[in-house]
Amino acid sequence: MKEKIEKLKESIKSYIVSKPDDIEAFRIKYLSKKGEVSTLFQEFRNVPNELKRQLGQDLNELKNFASNTYEDLKKSFNDNTQNENNIDLSLPGLPIELGTRHPVSLVKGKIIEIFKRIGYTVSEGAEIEDDEHNFGRLNFPENHPARDMQDTFFISPDLNVLLRTHTSSVQAHEMQELKPPIRTISPGRVFRNESISARSHCQFHQIEGLYIDENVSFADLRQTLLFFAREMFGRDTKIRLRPSYFPFTEPSAEMDISCSLCGGKGCKVCKHTGWVEVLGCGMVDPNVLEVAEIDTKKFTGFAFGIGIERTAMLVYGINDIRLLFENDIRFLKQFTSAI
Ligand code: DAH
Repeated sequence: MKEKIEKLKESIKSYIVSKPDDIEAFRIKYLSKKGEVSTLFQEFRNVPNELKRQLGQDLNELKNFASNTYEDLKKSFNDNTQNENNIDLSLPGLPIELGTRHPVSLVKGKIIEIFKRIGYTVSEGAEIEDDEHNFGRLNFPENHPARDMQDTFFISPDLNVLLRTHTSSVQAHEMQELKPPIRTISPGRVFRNESISARSHCQFHQIEGLYIDENVSFADLRQTLLFFAREMFGRDTKIRLRPSYFPFTEPSAEMDISCSLCGGKGCKVCKHTGWVEVLGCGMVDPNVLEVAEIDTKKFTGFAFGIGIERTAMLVYGINDIRLLFENDIRFLKQFTSAI
């Protein structure tokens, strides 16, 4: 009997647990009703009386040793694999998803980079503007339809404070604050009270360009825009300037590029004309220079305004402007690299 007790103790000591099931197996093997410790207790009945005192003590010790070992095993196994909150720290981590740049940011960055290469600085203005800089200094007549409630989000009841409707407001500030030569581009968000559709949105982004110096001519404007178009849409891109009207430029024009999707052959995007409109431009109207106290005998200038969403739609072949504002991750994930 004594030998059996010793043997069992050794076997309990060397019991190896590698998974939770082993702990339950331990309990069954040693501590259950039919387990090895209980079996010894049964045999104990047949032990001669004179040995009972000592062996009874040994047996009880063995039983306690087995129960304590069982509790210790349970505890140590839990400590190794789980913390207090029952979180399994041994599980592999979730991969950290890499973000991507928004297509509007990518295109804006590219346009800025193109103009920086030919000496333009970057300037930014406020999204909340006054009537004077959004309209007045840009030669909009007092009752011009663009000031109408239809297009402009007014903030103050006297219609003086508003959300800028174009980034041309920044050129009004630049002319007021800087002396020529001025050569700057101004990216930013603009707002218009328009219904949202595949083609138009109530908020979008523009990049304004302004160049004022001595002897700046329409030929300079054309050449600058041709450089931009080729850098942005590809070496073979052609441009055409159509006469247009803006209050702050005279003469004014709209620039089309040969359709970058069909190469000018005609497709849905260019409405089978082979041309798509990308920006408005013109020579700065002398009235605009004069309110900024720029000497119109000495200086002339040109300006242009590029729609960033429009450019992005052409570059990436996106047919609905709303996709650029909904921020559906499945859409945005496609724009992973610089252009
Ligand atoms: N501000 C005009 C618009 O939002 C775009 C524009 C046209 C800007 C001609 C210019 C320009 O600087 O010269 O439609």
